[in-house]
Amino acid sequence: MTSPRTPFAVGANPRDYGLPDERELAAWLAARYSAATPPPQAALANTADAVYRPAVLPRNHLRGVSSTQDFATPTPLPPAPQTTALPLVGAVSVAQIRADFPILAEQVEGKPLVWLDNAATTQRPRQVIERLVQYYEHENSNVHRAAHTLAARSTDAYEAAREKIARFLGVPAKDNIVFVRGTTEGINLVAQAFVKPRLQPGDEIILTQLEHHANIVPWQLISAATGAVLKVAPVDASGQILLAEYTRLFTKNTRFAAFTHVSNALGTITPIAELIAIAHRFGVPTLVDGAQSVAHTPLNLTALDADFFVFSGHKIFGPTGIGAVYGKKELLDAAEPWQGGGNMIADVTFARTLYHDAPAKFEAGTGNIADAVGLGAALDYVSQLGLANIARYEHGLLEYGTRELTKIPGLTLIGTAREKASVLSFVLAGHSTEEVGQHLSRAGIAVRAGHHCAQPILRHFGVEATVRPSLAFYNLPEEIEALARAVRELAGKR
Ligand code: ALA
Repeated sequence: MTSPRTPFAVGANPRDYGLPDERELAAWLAARYSAATPPPQAALANTADAVYRPAVLPRNHLRGVSSTQDFATPTPLPPAPQTTALPLVGAVSVAQIRADFPILAEQVEGKPLVWLDNAATTQRPRQVIERLVQYYEHENSNVHRAAHTLAARSTDAYEAAREKIARFLGVPAKDNIVFVRGTTEGINLVAQAFVKPRLQPGDEIILTQLEHHANIVPWQLISAATGAVLKVAPVDASGQILLAEYTRLFTKNTRFAAFTHVSNALGTITPIAELIAIAHRFGVPTLVDGAQSVAHTPLNLTALDADFFVFSGHKIFGPTGIGAVYGKKELLDAAEPWQGGGNMIADVTFARTLYHDAPAKFEAGTGNIADAVGLGAALDYVSQLGLANIARYEHGLLEYGTRELTKIPGLTLIGTAREKASVLSFVLAGHSTEEVGQHLSRAGIAVRAGHHCAQPILRHFGVEATVRPSLAFYNLPEEIEALARAVRELAGKR
């Protein structure tokens, strides 16, 4: 086995390798928080110092948890565009797009389906469904191993999908892309294969308050195993990360930083370019959880200098059970295998194993070939629409939804950052989130109601659950109106 190269010196003094001292950092922060950007909220500064030592907690440990601190007051919104300005994604009509998604014609509860649960999973266009059928009817075989026609077809299709992902993310080569089951498995891979082998007791990993449980628990597991600690960057009253507080968390012991690009619970778009650049000033590699951003914002990971980026196929109109990790080549080379088995080896004896290079090193066993091919078709679909067009259309829809919902008496939006994508989380006074979700379901409207696997950030805003409509490019202003009508109807009942 080859021993991995350490890309950053464990326990070294940052000043020894050209990183900023406190004076330089203060000057840099002062320049950043100039007239254009208000200074961070001093009131939240103390939460930045919190250091979390993972512990196994009893099942009932949450009883009596106070959930009243730091409740956000929604900030006034800019005027939203008229609904008539929203029927096109680029040059393509939303009606034409909807015709590509068979399930959107479904009736539920005797009513037309209104799919506003896109943050949980998106729907698939027939181009993806037909690609899966074509694969199973004409190409199905295991990949790499056999020298016959179908093996060549399936290998070509699988590797073409990897290539499409690399192009879609703007990264150098398809070998930077590792197939995984989804975002959760991708984060676990990076934690186990790259970060854990480099941790010593007292080392630090930085997260943010916005994280989904999938970007918390894998770090708790490796911290508990190594004696490392987690430090958590706080958010302001709108749900945006406080950059100065994030910066202050870095010390000579910081080994890794992981953060979401878009919060699944609030919709906040985080400033990943800055988050990555700040970490790099301290010589710290990063992981971006792209599960909720990949379908909603244009990305160029090379321009962002991202180290690791993970996403799931089913959040971007592709199949479930498939996703990808992007890693810089030198970091993938430095990471250790995390699962052993076929496909990932160059040679095995009972005494030792030689591994393939990435990505095969991280893909033990037969992969999810058909769904990888389906994901490639999904990326073709969104690329044809154009991510910039999608982002523009969805932004208008989000503003319209924000305006309509905030008119409803008793409704409070949770998450009011200036930069948001897709998500409209809210609570309705006098009604449980479950009650609101069921009322909407009876109207044919699918939303998620609950904690969205992001309990820390909801508790920060003083709630245990929200109702969460979440948008995609096939949603219509009329669907927002149906949502607002149904919520208003319920609000008027008490
Ligand atoms: N992470 C997904 C969500 O936010 C399941 O709903």
